[in-house]
Amino acid sequence: TPTATSDAVKDDAVQESAFLKACRREPVPHTPVWFMRQAGRSLPEYRKVREGIGMLDSCMRPDLVTEITLQPVRRHHVDAAIFFSDIVVPLKAIGIDLDIKPGVGPVVEQPVRTRADLDRLRDLTPEDVTYVTEAIGMLTRELGPTPLIGFAGAPFTLASYLVEGGPSRTYENAKAMMYGDPELWADLLDRLADITAAFLKVQIEAGASAVQLFDSWAGALAPADYRRSVMPASAKVFRAVAGHGVPRIHFGVGTGELLGLLGEAGADVVGVDWRVPLDEAARRVGPGKALQGNLDPTVLFAGRDAVETKAQEVLDAAAGLEGHVFNLGHGVMPSTDPDALTRLVEYVHTRTAR
Ligand code: CP3
Repeated sequence: TPTATSDAVKDDAVQESAFLKACRREPVPHTPVWFMRQAGRSLPEYRKVREGIGMLDSCMRPDLVTEITLQPVRRHHVDAAIFFSDIVVPLKAIGIDLDIKPGVGPVVEQPVRTRADLDRLRDLTPEDVTYVTEAIGMLTRELGPTPLIGFAGAPFTLASYLVEGGPSRTYENAKAMMYGDPELWADLLDRLADITAAFLKVQIEAGASAVQLFDSWAGALAPADYRRSVMPASAKVFRAVAGHGVPRIHFGVGTGELLGLLGEAGADVVGVDWRVPLDEAARRVGPGKALQGNLDPTVLFAGRDAVETKAQEVLDAAAGLEGHVFNLGHGVMPSTDPDALTRLVEYVHTRTAR
């Protein structure tokens, strides 16, 4: 059918995109750029469509998800879209009583502290998240040659919210379980690995052409503890999606000491925050992996000259890498001037055009 033909032509264009080439460490026409949290409060058009609609409710509406995901692609001409959702959506979908409170973050009504609490975490099936399949179908039709990145929270970062009951600076309850009841902890992370893997598979099967595992808070862990108590669960997630042929990105904040392990867990691309320059990050990660990053998101508040100077430093540090995806070292901050982001995309594209 003509539809099947045009789908195949579009799939080829997606596969040949600068973003997917960089993830595969192939030569690129220019360094691809996207931003974590590129959709969201920095954009007036986002604030407008979200008016009066709760965060989690908006994630369950395919029309809104499609519109919000496309907004930064239209405005900034980034090289990839990231599916608009949240790391706690799969937990909500299996019936955990939680909400995302504005200005606070995810809040869990009954924190997971005991074996009985763990038994409340059932497996995720595609039927639990039909709105995700529907949204990604709509999105991939609208995106044309632009790849869509699917994502999920990694077991440790999800556990940090589930065990604490909300955002935390110290993760004292989660780490107390990790150190004090390693068996319960291992079972919790293993259960979360299965939920996360199922959530990523839904997104890949619906049309996502790369996935990112956000272990945002893994930087709170010493390498030996990460290796022993967290890496097995994250590695399970990566193994579960290995056969799908989509690049797997692994990201955390403050993970300078963990970069080698983030790669070893099974990633094709390792995300780096701004604390370690990319040439040094490449030495820590070792050969065979692309890197993503790593402009400090606060640089965007410093004016055009400073943004360009600091962006050029990132590009210079990345010059010897086999695969580089330009990104911030963490998400776009809500008060960022969106024009600064648009100019940054153009700067990276122009400076790296080959
Ligand atoms: O553009 C994108 O990057 C896609 C959308 C996205 C959201 N959350 C939307 C969102 C992604 C990739 C996430 C992941 C996420 N959620 C992470 C990992 C990334 C990271 O920042 O480290 C984490 C830790 C969460 C948990 C979470 N959800 C937090 C800490 C918050 C912020 C709370 C606040 O109000 O400041 C959320 C809510 C959230 N998720 C918002 C958005 C756009 C803001 C809520 C709103 O706009 O009303």
